[in-house]
Amino acid sequence: MKIDVIALFPEIIIPALRVSILKRAQDAGFLTVNVHNLRDFATDRHQSVDDYPYGGGAGMILKPEPLFAAIRALSPESNTRVIYLTPQGKPCTQQLAEALSLESHIILICGRYKGIDERVRQRLVTDEISIGDYVLSGGEIPALVLIDTIGRVLPGVLGDYESAQDDSFSQQLLDHPHYTRPADFEGMNVPEVLLSGHHEKITRWKYEESLRRTAVRRPDLLKEIELTEEDTNFLREPNASEGI
Ligand code: ADE
Repeated sequence: MKIDVIALFPEIIIPALRVSILKRAQDAGFLTVNVHNLRDFATDRHQSVDDYPYGGGAGMILKPEPLFAAIRALSPESNTRVIYLTPQGKPCTQQLAEALSLESHIILICGRYKGIDERVRQRLVTDEISIGDYVLSGGEIPALVLIDTIGRVLPGVLGDYESAQDDSFSQQLLDHPHYTRPADFEGMNVPEVLLSGHHEKITRWKYEESLRRTAVRRPDLLKEIELTEEDTNFLREPNASEGI
């Protein structure tokens, strides 16, 4: 998969692409990320990328010419998704990241200042994505969030793909608690069932822990999935939300 990013501050993004899973994904050829500096596509002699808003008001707007030039230079196919990171976009979810990971080429536009000229949205942008209901000073960090989320679900990237399938949100549930050695740490003991070696019981325990954690912390997620009678009964138990 190829991701082209257009940003005014590539230096925010580039270092994070050079470590850990994203580095591995690129080294192994699963992912190519090119970060382009919007200023390189400025069309006037002052290399300006922003201008005052028509109608007045605070803040500067990213001009249409450099953004149009940048996107045209990347020769998008007719099906290339051109994604603008903005708090006005649809929420970035695991499902959305998994859907995007199936694309062969996407282009990310990072805004700055008050945002981009509306005509870029109208003519070039196919999707708008928000990473949450808060405002960052630019789209570089949101772009990185999206690249990271997509990069780690590309088939083959995680050594043990199982570990992505167990993540929070992969089954619309939050992840269950995890423990490692020692079994007794300052009197706090690992749940007996995890030491039992009984795989069926362990699987059920993990599922129930996911279920009750989700019910307590993110009840909104539970509305999206179908629970069995056994699940509903489990959640009705008086101590189901203890210790969460
Ligand atoms: N740019 C500024 N804030 C943002 C957000 N919350 N999501 C995506 N892009 C943004």
